[in-house]
Amino acid sequence: GKVAVLFGGTSAEREVSLKSGQAVLNALQSAGVDAIAFDPKDQPLWQLKELNIERVFIALHGRGGEDGTIQGALEFMGIPYTGSDVLGSALAMDKVRCKHLFKAMGLSTAPYTVVDSRHEFDSQAIINEFGKVMVKPSHEGSSIGMAEANSAEQLDAALNAAFKFDSQVLVEQWITGREFTVAVLGQDVQPVIEMTTPNGFYDYQAKYQSNTTQYHCPADISVQETELLQDMALKAFDLVGASGWGRVDAMRDQQGNFYLLEVNTVPGMTEKSLVPMAAKANGASFEQLVVRILEQTL
Ligand code: DAL
Ligand code: MG
Repeated sequence: GKVAVLFGGTSAEREVSLKSGQAVLNALQSAGVDAIAFDPKDQPLWQLKELNIERVFIALHGRGGEDGTIQGALEFMGIPYTGSDVLGSALAMDKVRCKHLFKAMGLSTAPYTVVDSRHEFDSQAIINEFGKVMVKPSHEGSSIGMAEANSAEQLDAALNAAFKFDSQVLVEQWITGREFTVAVLGQDVQPVIEMTTPNGFYDYQAKYQSNTTQYHCPADISVQETELLQDMALKAFDLVGASGWGRVDAMRDQQGNFYLLEVNTVPGMTEKSLVPMAAKANGASFEQLVVRILEQTL
């Protein structure tokens, strides 16, 4: 049957999605799948019915595409789609609620507080409590709207910048250490990747524009650490109700403790992205990966 690859969309991650979706579309077509491009920004979603689309590959990142909205509409239309369902998508897109859940269920994650633009907050008190922090809009991806802060003035500036994206903002204790990610395919974890950047952290520029970012796959950590991290990733993935495929990001501090950052239910799928890199280390080509993700909808 005919497959539509949904990409583009209206979120702040549109540019990333355009790349992911084009790569997915090319891979499906070269695998012999009857696939077309579909951008929900340019075409009303109900046209999927008129086009006799039987399955959808969701390659939309961020709000409106990765957060359960499209998933709900597709459920309503009775069209199977790749990846997580409405609940898993919505929850994973909400960093604040994910943190609450990680904490409640005893999964290791950095200490944090939540700042809401509609309520009063005391930047100095936050800095006094946590020291250096990382500021994240609750519902963004690709590090959009994120900034570090080491003083009340910096925190005010970082919060005001983050409020442009979200009324809810997560403020996490800064972790000095190394950044890792674990791809999940079906119920299988993939080899761990470590990302290193001369920037302060693996930000938008380091992710998509830099040629100084380095990737190490499999990551240079012990077998025990690898298994521990993969186990944490799978627990987080299951906890938020994610399914099909995804990617779980984490950090390791200088004492060797791991901390969960977040679950991505539509991770980047450009040829240079992390999930394809992990799949390749596991012996699967980009084309095989894309076909395998699509097959989860059957
Ligand atoms: N949000 C980006 C696309 C990622 O997690 O890869
Ligand atoms: Mg993300």
